[in-house]
Amino acid sequence: MSAQGAFVADIKEIRRRARQHLGQGAVTQNYGGKVEEAIAALNHAVATEIVCVLRYQFHAVCATGLASEAVKEEFLQHAKEEAEHLALLSERINQLGGKPDLNPAGVANRSATEYVEGENLVDMIKENLVAERIAIETYRDMVRYFGDKDPTTRVMLERILAQEEEHANDMHDLLVSHEGRPMLER
Ligand SMILES: [Fe+2]
Ligand SMILES: [Fe+2]
Repeated sequence: MSAQGAFVADIKEIRRRARQHLGQGAVTQNYGGKVEEAIAALNHAVATEIVCVLRYQFHAVCATGLASEAVKEEFLQHAKEEAEHLALLSERINQLGGKPDLNPAGVANRSATEYVEGENLVDMIKENLVAERIAIETYRDMVRYFGDKDPTTRVMLERILAQEEEHANDMHDLLVSHEGRPMLER
């Protein structure tokens, strides 16, 4: 059979399968990964984003000092973007047939990042940089995990990862300007 003929045969089979398991919505038979595992991984990221929203929000409100106004704005902007990540992850979990775990109980345990208030402005910036670096590492691992098994989830995670890298860069720039020296210890 020619390659085109094989594809036509596939289309018939795909049409037949599409009529089965309609309750599974967007999850079709050729979903490459284990859906439950994917949902669990995404729910860890959900918890991480909740903690990041709360930490940035606290910092945006509680940062003090003459130099704090511009930094507060940056913290607030990041809080909003972390909330967008939370929404994207929750929507994707729903598309995969799961429930986003938004129950506050246990969020801190499931989150990769920590909720640290910080003693002063530089402390706050440092804590956010640490959290962004944790987020970057976990999202990069998740991108590899999803690979070509679930391209839609992978592409979403790549977008979030790119924004976490921008966040880390923003925090690094703030740290340099507020600490007065570049971070050379790596
Ligand atoms: Fe985020
Ligand atoms: Fe971030």
